[in-house]
Amino acid sequence: MTILHVQGLAKRFGSHEVLSGIDLDVAKGERIAILGASGSGKSTLLRCINFMEMPDAGTVTLDGKVVGRRERELTAVRQRIGMVFQQFNLFPHMTALGNVMEGLRTVRRMPKAEAAARAERELARVGLSDKAAHYPAHLSGGQKQRVAIARALAMDPELLLFDEPTSALDPELVGEVLGVIRALAEEGCTMLLVTHELGFAYHVATRVIFLADGAIHEQGTPDEVLKDPKKERTRAFLARHKEFSL
Ligand SMILES: Nc1ncnc2c1ncn2[C@@H]1O[C@H](COP(=O)(O)OP(=O)(O)O)[C@@H](O)[C@H]1O
Ligand SMILES: [Mg+2]
Repeated sequence: MTILHVQGLAKRFGSHEVLSGIDLDVAKGERIAILGASGSGKSTLLRCINFMEMPDAGTVTLDGKVVGRRERELTAVRQRIGMVFQQFNLFPHMTALGNVMEGLRTVRRMPKAEAAARAERELARVGLSDKAAHYPAHLSGGQKQRVAIARALAMDPELLLFDEPTSALDPELVGEVLGVIRALAEEGCTMLLVTHELGFAYHVATRVIFLADGAIHEQGTPDEVLKDPKKERTRAFLARHKEFSL
């Protein structure tokens, strides 16, 4: 069952064509790892899928309906497609609980007590029940990222986008965030995950996409793309990630 259908998605910044016609179908329960060199358009692709950037061309279809054509439907689209950023993007003046409640209150208009109860459940899900009253400044990077994941989950997204969720973390904190993402994978969450953690991608993704020159250069199962890439550019990219072991 296809939940997301992207067709002919293109985006340029000035004269720089970053994405030049991306076609992508995502089935429910799929976990797609997106790889590519720095500047290859990975973030732009995720940002166009939930309309944080406006695509120049192409369509995004969610559950069979083209979305994003009207400004007023974008809030709904962003609820249905949750996003987790490299830099967490938490509100510094709100506690962990407040951050997770925010969308429930302002977008869903959920009563305060109900939103708080839901936010507590999501914080428990990422192992942070004891940090509900803490402000971001008093949380580690790994904890902040787990709050950001809880915030995305609170909106019951059909699809989760992760943009290098562990790239800003000290190495010893990467595992706790990958552990949460792995648990979501086991629950059957549908996700697009931009990552340089190739070992994690190998074990968690159902499909791997390699982006280059604004297009999907190669894609396939983790075994196909990571162990036996067909294209020279993919091979060269993987060779530059020597530290990676499957
Ligand atoms: N808002 C923007 N304005 C101008 N150029 C941008 C903007 N966002 C991204 N770019 C450019 O688009 C290219 C792709 O960026 P990005 O999607 O962030 O790549 P990646 O996430 O793969 O590193 C880069 O050359 C970047 O400088
Ligand atoms: Mg990026």
